[in-house]
Amino acid sequence: TSNEMWGGRFASGPSAIMEAINASIGFDQRLYREDIAGSIAHSRMLADRGIISQADAAEIGRGLEAIRAEIEAGTFAFSREREDIHMNVEARLAELIGPAAGRLHTARSRNDQVAVDFRLYVKAACRDLDAALKALIEALLARAEEHAATVMPGFTHLQAAQPVTFGHHCLAYVEMAARDRGRAQDAMRRMDESPLGAAALAGTGFPIDRHATAEALGFREPTRNSLDSVSDRDYALEFLAAASITVTHLSRLAEEIVIWSTPQFDFVRLSDAFSTGSSIMPQKKNPDAAELVRAKTGRINGSLVALLTIMKGLPLSYSKDMQEDKEQVFDAVDSLALALAAMTGMISDLQVNAAKMRAAAGAGFSTATDLADWLVRELGLPFREAHHVTGRAVAMAEARKVPLEDLPLADLQTLDNRIGEEIYSVLSVDASVASRTSFGGTAPENVRAQVRFWRERLAAE
Ligand code: ARG
Repeated sequence: TSNEMWGGRFASGPSAIMEAINASIGFDQRLYREDIAGSIAHSRMLADRGIISQADAAEIGRGLEAIRAEIEAGTFAFSREREDIHMNVEARLAELIGPAAGRLHTARSRNDQVAVDFRLYVKAACRDLDAALKALIEALLARAEEHAATVMPGFTHLQAAQPVTFGHHCLAYVEMAARDRGRAQDAMRRMDESPLGAAALAGTGFPIDRHATAEALGFREPTRNSLDSVSDRDYALEFLAAASITVTHLSRLAEEIVIWSTPQFDFVRLSDAFSTGSSIMPQKKNPDAAELVRAKTGRINGSLVALLTIMKGLPLSYSKDMQEDKEQVFDAVDSLALALAAMTGMISDLQVNAAKMRAAAGAGFSTATDLADWLVRELGLPFREAHHVTGRAVAMAEARKVPLEDLPLADLQTLDNRIGEEIYSVLSVDASVASRTSFGGTAPENVRAQVRFWRERLAAE
């Protein structure tokens, strides 16, 4: 049998393969709320403009509400023959209310219909991303405050570089997450235009009111070009780009958690709630959640590249290729929501082994820069010369197999006889972090001030 929507031109129905490659109902049923909201706004506008009768619009509205209830109750029979969410809903509407259903699609195409549905969906996804990032920031701030003075090694090249505090490290991720929120909010503002009424691609001759439907659906304004309206998927790309950057940040933190929770580092212990055991090795406690956050990054970055690649060769305006936008976004939404929730949980529950962190912070001559700075400050050495002298002190400590602060004064005085006892006060890791008071530095008082800064910012939202 030929298609119930466009059968007029067709003598026979599609092959089973055509139906299988063409149908999107398996995934786009997720847009049912947006689709019904879009159709209600459209039909009300049509009635207000005298294009259909108020009675028909009311019937359509009641029918669509009933369909929403059916879908939510799980009694709606999705049909692959009816291809996508738009035609599933419309065909069911015809079953429920009869001929008035046929008036709903006046001055509209599935091209602008799917565009408005998907924009509504992606806008909400941006809002959810923003909220989830805010929760992560709050979790990080709590740990940063608690550990403002907990000394740990700071690394470059994953080699101990200079001592920092765990609070400072947490705040580094607060900065990233705050920028991620900015990207989500910014993308959302840009996509806040309604494409509904662009119709197939050229607009319509019916006297529709696009400003009214835009407003009814919560958009700032209607889009300004009908061709662009049905071909634009920038908003999905922007969401995926923001998601990719966000999850890349999460992945770096996940990687650190994996490293920190090894028995070799033993800086943190994951709670039982966020780790798994081994089915063979009874001693194991594995950081699977962190590893999966890292892995979700591959998926989400893949979705961004997939959609960029789908879009890159498409002539204006709509091509069916664009139907493939949805699974990429849906998968990224689900993966990112899980990754953010898991990371927020891990951060909140993490047990910090302050003693281990402190011991490691002192290893690897991590206060060598403090020694060089002291030589510059107290003895007036040029920094390059101080660097050289300190290098020799490190070599001596290495030869004696002791940390810098355990070098005898006599040894240090062979490098410069003006060095006195007071040098030892800068060689401790606490003195090192306490001295880093430059704006943005790791000194505990700075960390506390930054926590206050972010708390006030969040409170002012
Ligand atoms: N299911 C389609 C999609 O997701 C809806 C738009 C179909 N438009 C068309 N002209 N075939 O893109």
